[in-house]
Amino acid sequence: MRSYAGPHVSTPPVPEWSAAEIERLLAPVVRELMPPTALSTLPYDLNAGVPDRETLPWRELAAAATRVLEADPGGALTYGGAQGYEPLRAWIAARQAQETGLALDAAHITLTSGSAHAIDNIAATFVAPGDVVVVGAPTYPGALRTFRARGARLVAVPQDDDGLQMAPLAAALERQRASGAPAKLIYVIANYDNPSGSTLPLRRREELARIAARHRALVVEDDAYTGIDLEGPPPPSLFGVAGGQGMLRIGTFSKTIATGLRVGWVVASPAMIERLVYMRFDNGSSPLLHRMVLAYLQSGAHERHVAMLRDLYRERRDAAAAALVEQCEPYLTFRKPAGGFFHWLRLRDGLDAVAVARAAAQRGVAVTPGRNYFAAGGGEGNLRLVYSALPVARLQEAIALLGAALAEVASDGGERAVDGGTGGA
Ligand SMILES: Cc1ncc(COP(=O)(O)O)c(C=O)c1O
Repeated sequence: MRSYAGPHVSTPPVPEWSAAEIERLLAPVVRELMPPTALSTLPYDLNAGVPDRETLPWRELAAAATRVLEADPGGALTYGGAQGYEPLRAWIAARQAQETGLALDAAHITLTSGSAHAIDNIAATFVAPGDVVVVGAPTYPGALRTFRARGARLVAVPQDDDGLQMAPLAAALERQRASGAPAKLIYVIANYDNPSGSTLPLRRREELARIAARHRALVVEDDAYTGIDLEGPPPPSLFGVAGGQGMLRIGTFSKTIATGLRVGWVVASPAMIERLVYMRFDNGSSPLLHRMVLAYLQSGAHERHVAMLRDLYRERRDAAAAALVEQCEPYLTFRKPAGGFFHWLRLRDGLDAVAVARAAAQRGVAVTPGRNYFAAGGGEGNLRLVYSALPVARLQEAIALLGAALAEVASDGGERAVDGGTGGA
């Protein structure tokens, strides 16, 4: 690296720092983690799990920002405390109370920088190096990175079409208990899982709550996609099913408003919330954005926006499904998700997902190979395809190109590749 010094600054008598020196000083975990999601630069991005760009409600958000700045510039532009803006917490608590039938108020909520930070805040508070965290196989790679970064030992429990399987979960927890290292947390995406699209049926939610309670393991229910309901409301939340006991429920406005807001939250007992707030070292998230989001929610624009998004994503999900059947069917199967952003594809036996992703990339299409979603191996025959971000015509073009990539890999014998792509968001 060359010196930072400009023409008016004399170079200080300090030797420059080399990349190797910086590398030597890194905490070991920095070298051990798999890399984070990289946004694709390919013409068809079916990789990043993000909302439609064209319909981001920027006008309504700009108007809401102006209103809150005019009403209370001092409040909006100074430190607001680590737990976050109380009226927005109260709004979220009222919604959660409606959904769960539980008595919840602002003390049950802490606001975070998106749900990614909520996962980290929970991990920072509950996970000591070596602690066992149970995750789905597959699951959200951001959670895998976060728990690993905090020193967790991950135990993966398989999913089927209905999400996390209960018998293997119970067996894993028994094994952990018998080994003297009982699981501390169970991380689960009950609605519209990333990446599998599965939704846990009510019976499994009840069973999961029972199993977790028996083992005194906390459940982290990541609800990032709740609201993107394409077949009506999902079953009652795990949090509600368990009466809130031993539960931390994570939410976000990333998927129903905009990822750029970085406004998420945790719902939990006030005793747990206090500890989460205690483990914040960033002076809280933005008071301006909290006020802006609340003003936007109270204007009624959000209800209309989410209703529009459901129609938009349902159309895209169905168009993508039809194109997959038409263009790719001999090579894969999938099950339509009831909500969220993803089709989770199972490739025909012998077809390697990394080879297919690479052949698709050569045609300008980014899709995510399945292995990025597994803590302990697997996913060699899966791809995740995002249908939320592109209009129908572009989705159809992309899926036709994916079909050609599949045909090419199949005709080459679908040979196994050694290097992979990056995990999708
Ligand atoms: C399951 C899940 N949880 C959390 C996140 C993080 O979202 P954000 O931090 O934008 O709320 C994502 C993003 O893709 C996700 O898929």
